[in-house]
Amino acid sequence: MTTYKLLVLPGDGIGPEVMAEVEKIAAFLTYEGLVKFEIEKGLVGGSAYDVYGAAISEDDMARAQEADAVLLAAVGGPKWDQVPYENRPEAGLLRLRKDMQLFANLRPAICYPALADASSLKREVVDGLDILIVRELTGGVYFGEPKQIIDLGNGQKRAIDTQVYDTYEIERIGRIAFELARKRRNKVTSSEKRNVMKSGVLWHEVISALHTREFPDVELEHQLADALGMQLVRRPKQFDVIVTDNLFGDMLSDVAAMLTGSLGMLPSASLGERNATTGARKALYEPVHGSAPDIAGKGIANPIAMISSLVMALRYSFNLEDLADRIDRSIAAVLEKGLRTGDIAGGAQNTISTAQMGDAILEELKIAV
Ligand code: NAI
Ligand code: MG
Repeated sequence: MTTYKLLVLPGDGIGPEVMAEVEKIAAFLTYEGLVKFEIEKGLVGGSAYDVYGAAISEDDMARAQEADAVLLAAVGGPKWDQVPYENRPEAGLLRLRKDMQLFANLRPAICYPALADASSLKREVVDGLDILIVRELTGGVYFGEPKQIIDLGNGQKRAIDTQVYDTYEIERIGRIAFELARKRRNKVTSSEKRNVMKSGVLWHEVISALHTREFPDVELEHQLADALGMQLVRRPKQFDVIVTDNLFGDMLSDVAAMLTGSLGMLPSASLGERNATTGARKALYEPVHGSAPDIAGKGIANPIAMISSLVMALRYSFNLEDLADRIDRSIAAVLEKGLRTGDIAGGAQNTISTAQMGDAILEELKIAV
């Protein structure tokens, strides 16, 4: 059996609390012989700064590069508000994304039927929703040059951001979207604004050519980004995989996230290039939520976003689809039973702790195994 190297970075605030539940599940899977993990632990964020004076050590950075997947919980908190900019907790996360060259950000929006009433939309619009937004993460207007504010000398200033995309950048993100769609419902919606942006014209052209050349079996449609925004809140279940650029992806993935209720439920993945010999992609898995300092230390955080991040690692880094499905079904079963952490309780009285939620999912998993 293949041994997978996992680097576990619990980070700050509720990070260690939710990561402990993932470690329970990983230990169980290993014990049952379902998968073999070699788990190393490291520090990131404020907790790394306290020890090393940097938001991630060179040693942990090297281990991240070596790992088959990195699991990160969350970084940050008021304790480190005065830390110099380059050593801020977020710097650890940014360094990981940059050095591992993670150019694809995967943001699923899944609405468990048991939680459909927590959405701001009507139950029938979101019940059973399962979409995946693939956002380009290292190019586009956030990084394009020139990027500056010019003093025009007449009391006016001019701010310039530049959207830049090269063919290879669009191709590699498109390829990920098509590959993922093949494992799902086989449909990709590509989104840009080719009506007003040159980068949109190229995006449309490159995705279309890639589709014809390598993925003719996948259904492809194009939607302008503003129209897609409307469709996301109007009829979100029409989508399977959505692929879009850095800026549109940033906004659309946050919109999609909120269709599903709580931050405590949402995982994400960031993927890099395939290794030429092993075929594996560099990968970082993390919940969408932050370190939640307001509830840290209380043992009440929802561990599901973190556990679902492990599920994404099983699916996308290790190709263990069955096992991933089993854990997903265990989460759904626990929710069906009415078990809730405070954030998803919707005012209900009987809430359970982080550890109780982790244990309940583990119990379901034991039955499923
Ligand atoms: P946050 O996501 O930490 O918290 C927002 C709200 O959601 C809070 O009320 C929190 O209690 C709640 N919440 C978040 N995750 C939860 C969970 N698993 N279970 C139950 N409730 C949960 O965002 P906020 O408050 O803006 O940022 C707090 C700190 O986290 C800051 O230092 C920020 O920089 C950092 N942060 C880190 C991120 C990361 O590591 N990727 C992402 C976002 C924020
Ligand atoms: Mg955002």
